[in-house]
Amino acid sequence: MTRHLLDICSLSVQELHDIISLSTSPNNKPLAGEGVALIFEKPSNRTRHSMEMAVYQLGGHPVYTRGEEVGLDERESVEDVTRIMAGYHAVIAARVFKHSFVERMAAVSDVPIINMLSDKSHPLQALADVITMQEHCGPVRDLTVAYVGDYNNVARSLGEAVCMMGGTYSLGCPSAYDADEDELERLAALGGVVRQSPDPKVAMAGADVVHTDTWISMGQEEESAIRRKIFRGFCVDEALMKLAAPNAKFMHCMPAHRGEEVSAEIFDGPNSLVIQQGHHRLTAAIGALTWVMEKS
Ligand code: CP
Ligand code: NVA
Repeated sequence: MTRHLLDICSLSVQELHDIISLSTSPNNKPLAGEGVALIFEKPSNRTRHSMEMAVYQLGGHPVYTRGEEVGLDERESVEDVTRIMAGYHAVIAARVFKHSFVERMAAVSDVPIINMLSDKSHPLQALADVITMQEHCGPVRDLTVAYVGDYNNVARSLGEAVCMMGGTYSLGCPSAYDADEDELERLAALGGVVRQSPDPKVAMAGADVVHTDTWISMGQEEESAIRRKIFRGFCVDEALMKLAAPNAKFMHCMPAHRGEEVSAEIFDGPNSLVIQQGHHRLTAAIGALTWVMEKS
């Protein structure tokens, strides 16, 4: 059976742990002689480079393709692009505006589809996040993980991973940019403990790790002015970090905007794990590619 990786929550807890184990001790060259299609409808630094290098290290050949080149649902349908590429490649990975595109790919593909970021989720980022937290902060089940800012794709995938691993997820998000009641219930049902406050100061209480992300995700540029106004007060700065646990770590998936969602002092400070986290995108990519190849 073909297994895809569209969301963290589509994995069992055991499978999540398996991917993390495979990240740190991959099996040989599961992609030897194989191609991997990497389709990007949006820009990327970390995801493109980590996926290309992971494919190479696993013995395969990455084919990078810009979204406008294939024109998903414009030049030809998502389904036609997918079925053709599945004949050339062992895996198809895509960064898309609409999550429904990766779902439609998975529905017609007999090779694994990996979501490299959609409007809904960013599973490869969450894998890197938990690998980094485990390495620097201890088992996720023992951690209180705060996320301050926009409840976006990164926040949703991180929350799924933290909850599935039995940790505490503490959200500090402005109203209307937060997780609604159904979403909080959905996360809590995955395991762990979830709490949310519209006051970022409340969200910081007891946090061992504090995450944030951009206030303006790719595709939301037209909302920039209003978002900058609404999120003022949600900058992770020294005053906010003082409310977390002593020696709490700071994390950010990047790209970062110093002076907006995080102050330069915190982003570049001694408790920041952002570079290690970024480098673990390669670790996570190796785990994800190895896992889909093993399962399919
Ligand atoms: N964090 C992340 O996905 O970075 P890129 O957009 O540079 O790939
Ligand atoms: N939330 C951000 C993450 C970038 C890696 C975005 O979707 O643009």
